[in-house]
Amino acid sequence: MLKKRVPLLAGLAIILLPITAITDETTLKAIMQELRQHFVDVSDGFLLDDFDKVAEGALAIAEHPRIPPEQVQLVAGELGAEMPVFKNFDVQVHELSLEMYKAAKERDRGTAVAAYQGMVAACFDCHFAYRERVAAVLKEAD
Ligand code: HEC
Repeated sequence: MLKKRVPLLAGLAIILLPITAITDETTLKAIMQELRQHFVDVSDGFLLDDFDKVAEGALAIAEHPRIPPEQVQLVAGELGAEMPVFKNFDVQVHELSLEMYKAAKERDRGTAVAAYQGMVAACFDCHFAYRERVAAVLKEAD
């Protein structure tokens, strides 16, 4: 009985997985909490000279999920003409984490560390400039 069910369930899981991947709405805050973990992994990788760990964490940062469109709209409504500046911080984090990933793969410590420092600056700069305002507008809509 069990034997017959297992392949059926496995088949269902394969069918259902992509659907939940599409409909599973995240939030900016949840994305940030994941970024925090990857950030810790990357830092740990540098501290332990573990380039595989750096590469893995950097790629996870680069490929972080998109902010849901409703939240993007709320943020744009709050920031107005400053929205491109906000977006640009995200682009910087994306590009620098990719650079860090590639450098870590090639065991190029200097390039990887420089990309890491630039990325950290972009995380902090966005927080200093926008975190409170954006958190407030998203909380209000929650
Ligand atoms: C484009 C702007 C921007 C960038 C870039 C950015 N953040 Fe954030 N971050 C925010 C905002 C806005 C919040 C507040 C979210 C909220 O409270 O709803 C936040 C909140 C956080 C939090 C707190 C989450 C919590 O539980 O309250 C952490 C941790 C965090 N970010 C980590 C990072 C890391 C790590 C990076 C870089 C790899 C990063 N962020 C880059 C905008 C940014």
